[in-house]
Amino acid sequence: MNILLTGGAGFIGRWVALRLLNEGHQVWIVDDLSNGQESNLNEFRQHPGLKDFIHGDIKDEALLENLFNEVKFDICYHLGASINVQDSIDDPRTTFNNDTVGTFFVMEQCRKHWVKVVFMSTCMVYDRCTDEAGITELHPTKPASPYAGAKIAAENMVLSYYYAYGLPTVVIRPFNTYGPFQKTGGEGGVVAIFINNKLAGKDVSIYGEGTQTRDLLFVEDCARFVVDAGFSDKVDGQIVNAGLGRDISVNDLALLIIGDSSRIKHVEHIHPQSEIQKLLCNYGKAKELLGWEPLVSLEEGIRRTEAWIQEGLAHTH
Ligand SMILES: NC(=O)c1ccc[n+]([C@@H]2O[C@H](COP(=O)([O-])OP(=O)(O)OC[C@H]3O[C@@H](n4cnc5c(N)ncnc54)[C@H](O)[C@@H]3O)[C@@H](O)[C@H]2O)c1
Repeated sequence: MNILLTGGAGFIGRWVALRLLNEGHQVWIVDDLSNGQESNLNEFRQHPGLKDFIHGDIKDEALLENLFNEVKFDICYHLGASINVQDSIDDPRTTFNNDTVGTFFVMEQCRKHWVKVVFMSTCMVYDRCTDEAGITELHPTKPASPYAGAKIAAENMVLSYYYAYGLPTVVIRPFNTYGPFQKTGGEGGVVAIFINNKLAGKDVSIYGEGTQTRDLLFVEDCARFVVDAGFSDKVDGQIVNAGLGRDISVNDLALLIIGDSSRIKHVEHIHPQSEIQKLLCNYGKAKELLGWEPLVSLEEGIRRTEAWIQEGLAHTH
């Protein structure tokens, strides 16, 4: 199939691209490289299925229009977005323009050209989890940050195209994803940052008490879920979660990674008002509709991520 992937030079997008190529599809990537890197595509840059990498912005309506006129796409995986909670608090305009307005431009092309849309939302739209059964898709949402607010707005728009026009669309809400190719600096994910600090012989800093929990999904499990959502019409018009189904406090995660409590420090939270105290995924709906389940345990995922970061360090030294 002909597939458009936005945000394909980013962390998760890179794995989605690889999976689509391995499954034999033709892939076009649009990424403005605001947070992604073209080098993320190095491993498959020469793959015959990778039709084009377009260094462009989804807010550029003319660019999208030309591309959709040129190629008859079957599916659009829309991952391109501003993803950082703190950045969204500091600069809500950028997040809203990319995540909400940008999504509108993508939706309009998909409506005109009748292309199925897989919209990448996030678990960060949920209110805190209150029971051990985990967060189902019926759990209340709460726009605790402009990032969450922008994603909820976009989700509603995407679903409105399903109801108003019958366009096949699906909203997916993966939980916090980690693994190789995630950035290891301050703007990266918690697992990558902790592993990087461990390997660099540095302490790790935890925002607030560290009792907040996360349900951590390995990126290859995430990418398989994303791709599967595009190829099943059972999920059209639906919201679907994916996660590990296990949560861990940030304190326990730090200990699991670094193994030495004297290297763990607590610092004042930068945005306590936007923190979600407990995130635990119930992925029953993904299992039922897509037959999807996570395959990589947290311990195994951390091991693979650490090996990748270590390899990168070996190359740079
Ligand atoms: N990382 C997670 O834990 C997680 C969890 C759930 C959902 N998500 C969602 O998954 C998607 C990918 O996230 P990621 O973690 O890989 O982050 P990422 O920043 O690595 O990927 C996003 C990509 O989108 C690109 N982009 C941003 N604005 C753009 C624009 N206007 N036009 C074109 N490209 C643009 C960036 O350059 C980047 O390559 C995002 O939609 C994010 O909200 C991430």
